[in-house]
Amino acid sequence: MANTVVYWMALMFIAVAVRSEEINILFHMHDVVVGSNRTAVPVGLGSILSPGFGAMVVIDDILTQQASPDSLLVGRAQGMYLSDSLSLITRPDLLLVFTAIFEWPAEYRGSTLSIQGADRIFMDKREVSVIGGTGKFRFARGFATIHTVSTSLLANAVLLFNVTVRVP
Ligand SMILES: *[C@@H]1O[C@H](CO)[C@@H](O)[C@H](O)[C@H]1NC(C)=O
Ligand SMILES: *[C@@H]1O[C@H](CO)[C@@H](O)[C@H](O)[C@H]1NC(C)=O
Repeated sequence: MANTVVYWMALMFIAVAVRSEEINILFHMHDVVVGSNRTAVPVGLGSILSPGFGAMVVIDDILTQQASPDSLLVGRAQGMYLSDSLSLITRPDLLLVFTAIFEWPAEYRGSTLSIQGADRIFMDKREVSVIGGTGKFRFARGFATIHTVSTSLLANAVLLFNVTVRVP
């Protein structure tokens, strides 16, 4: 009898594991810090004792399919980044925390992913966590790689996100 229960529990576990789906989503984030249509706004300049430490920018950036801001709108990134490295010059880092609120494709409209991690902007490719989601992405877990497509000092940046999540 006990053996039968264990057997059925094992079968159920396998069924659940197989149902878990891996989803891959690519999008470009447009961090517009200058000009009339800025979507990233500094709200604090950080400490006077350690210059730049604690500087914070709140974002409501658009996410598009291609690198052009006029390409298909995938959604928005609403959240912030915070300068949290004491060595701003040698290893700059931003604590990046935002909610990706999807518009496209239609099946993801209104669903969200919570993304957070160390955006070590001196690296060509860095990785942050996907710590959860809502709607179609309930219980989602995963990671995203970030690659800077274009940037210049005190100007607008385009970042490519490659998100991989498992949704149970
Ligand atoms: C700002 O947005 C408006 C309305 O979408 C647009 O007409 C204008 O060209 C944009 N300005 C810049 C500098 O991108
Ligand atoms: C995105 O990441 C996945 C998983 O790491 C990888 O298999 C895929 O090749 C990547 N796609 C691009 C365009 O880099």
